[in-house]
Amino acid sequence: MTSEMTMPDTDLGANTSRPYVPVGDEVEIFTAAWQSGLPVMLKGPTGCGKTKLVEHMAASFGVPLFTVCCHEDMTASDLLGRYVLRDSSTEWVDGPLTQAVRQGGICYLDEVVEARQDAIVAVHSLADHRRELNLERLGGLTLRAAPGFQLVVSYNPGYQSILKDLKMSTRQRMVALDLGFPPVEIERRIIRQESGLDDARVDAIIRIGQAIRRLDDAGLREVASTRALIATARLIRSGLSPRAAAVAAIAGPLSDDDDTRGSLTVLIDSYL
Ligand SMILES: Nc1ncnc2c1ncn2[C@@H]1O[C@H](COP(=O)(O)OP(=O)(O)OP(=O)(O)O)[C@@H](O)[C@H]1O
Ligand SMILES: [Mg+2]
Repeated sequence: MTSEMTMPDTDLGANTSRPYVPVGDEVEIFTAAWQSGLPVMLKGPTGCGKTKLVEHMAASFGVPLFTVCCHEDMTASDLLGRYVLRDSSTEWVDGPLTQAVRQGGICYLDEVVEARQDAIVAVHSLADHRRELNLERLGGLTLRAAPGFQLVVSYNPGYQSILKDLKMSTRQRMVALDLGFPPVEIERRIIRQESGLDDARVDAIIRIGQAIRRLDDAGLREVASTRALIATARLIRSGLSPRAAAVAAIAGPLSDDDDTRGSLTVLIDSYL
């Protein structure tokens, strides 16, 4: 590392300091669901803004946000809480769902289809008109959700297998928001805001993104996300050439196959 090397731009790194840019009517629907005590299901590809939207909504409602990254070993106790040993006695510790219920916050189950269904069923009584949580392990205590509580789940329909699909009884308790990648004008604003890069170079990145999203026979599992385009813009801002940045942040992550990466690089070159 040389002494000339610039320090990381921590302000750009923090995801919460810059506003969420509305794409359609998702903010209105989310707000109406929150006011009506209804859970929300966010569907969309990786890097399209699901987490950013939830952070924005929690901040705008003025409620705390409890995020849970779901995985297949997750149990109901990971959501509800458990007894832990402390100073030779056991003590109950609330899980994130219970904390959100008590404090009137948002509990966000990210990648919810990764969780086993028996863990998810724990949320059913919270996700309907009852809005209550039964804590069997805490002597059958029933907690009514404090005002402000909302359950939010997200998943990427592209990754989903039939085996991992959510139960209909879970799905139909929720208000669904389909979030795709934003239209060009809005994505341009987002990339500009998130990277501080000039318009001309942001436009070139946008065109690369659009071109990759139009490919339908390239054998890609996913296309270039808003996140990947922002990463490209940030690399350029920190001094990389546009080509090196786009290859590193777009082509590389999208494929391990040499031929596919080669074709993506040709495409990138044609827009830079
Ligand atoms: N509408 C938007 N307004 C502001 N920033 C956005 C918007 N959409 C996407 N972004 C930015 O794009 C990047 C990716 O967004 P985010 O992390 O929310 O994606 P995600 O859908 O949660 O992805 P994953 O499924 O991988 O968790 C972030 O830097 C975020 O700030
Ligand atoms: Mg996310």
